[in-house]
Amino acid sequence: MEGTAPSATAAGAAMLRASHLVLDDEPKVFTDPWALFFLDERRRLMAGDREAMGTDITRASRSTVTARSALTEAEIDSFVENGGTQIVVLGAGYDSFTLRRADLVDRVTVFEVDHPNTQASKRAKLRDGAVAEPTNARYVPVDFESQDAERELVQAGWRRDLPTFFSWLGVTMYLTDAATFATLELVAACSRGSAVAFQYSVKGSTVTPSDLDIRDRASVGIAKQGEPWINFYEPQVIVSRLFTAGFSEVDDLRSAELEQRFFAGRTDGLWWPSTNGMAIARV
Ligand SMILES: C[S@@+](CC[C@H](N)C(=O)[O-])C[C@H]1O[C@@H](n2cnc3c(N)ncnc32)[C@H](O)[C@@H]1O
Repeated sequence: MEGTAPSATAAGAAMLRASHLVLDDEPKVFTDPWALFFLDERRRLMAGDREAMGTDITRASRSTVTARSALTEAEIDSFVENGGTQIVVLGAGYDSFTLRRADLVDRVTVFEVDHPNTQASKRAKLRDGAVAEPTNARYVPVDFESQDAERELVQAGWRRDLPTFFSWLGVTMYLTDAATFATLELVAACSRGSAVAFQYSVKGSTVTPSDLDIRDRASVGIAKQGEPWINFYEPQVIVSRLFTAGFSEVDDLRSAELEQRFFAGRTDGLWWPSTNGMAIARV
């Protein structure tokens, strides 16, 4: 992110969620009625452009962006049902959880941690649209590469002694390994009952050649936006490192499992690409 510019890929993710509602079949994998609101005019138009959004790259991205949120929010639901009261959305971008879940306003505090540029842009869009910030949202500007997320969270009122669910979607591939594991270690040191659901980019033998080809082509466009994908993990390596970091349970979700759960029987060409990993690590 150059200068004060917000993340272009955060806007891209919101555009994919908006596009899913307009172009893909029912049932929707994930419904985000706020996605369109956060878009500029160019992306609003593009979200509904069947030709532009019909390529294998955009379908793979749309599948990932929708299923990762559906999966994570199901985990958040059970965390809250079990009495959890703190959620941290890391690299929140234009995530609309707090806006959609007014039912949780008195039960759950949501800390949105994001790069200062992107977070400022999100808050400006809310202000410009005369949308009140949800009263249970706490905005915590943090650059994972240069700031201590824990210190900033504590300053914003986060309580380390309470179980916390962390959501970290579409972010680790933009970070160094050091920044990624510094944050995962922060979660691993949290109180019992805490967990993180996060996405990572997969390398190694579990990636199919056709999915790899799509990612290689997609990565050229992503790099041109100034936010290159730089961080990849082999599933068995990241699982082992998560245990070393101190997690007691790690669920590394397999492509076949995600495919079956979110895409079985669909006729709109969405699928879970084997280039994307989703892990849920519990303290
Ligand atoms: C692809 S977007 C994903 C946004 C959101 N999680 C979603 O699923 O829509 C990547 C996010 O990572 C954030 N990000 C990238 N590098 C970062 C850094 N060094 N520190 C903090 N946030 C960062 C961006 O600001 C952006 O919000």
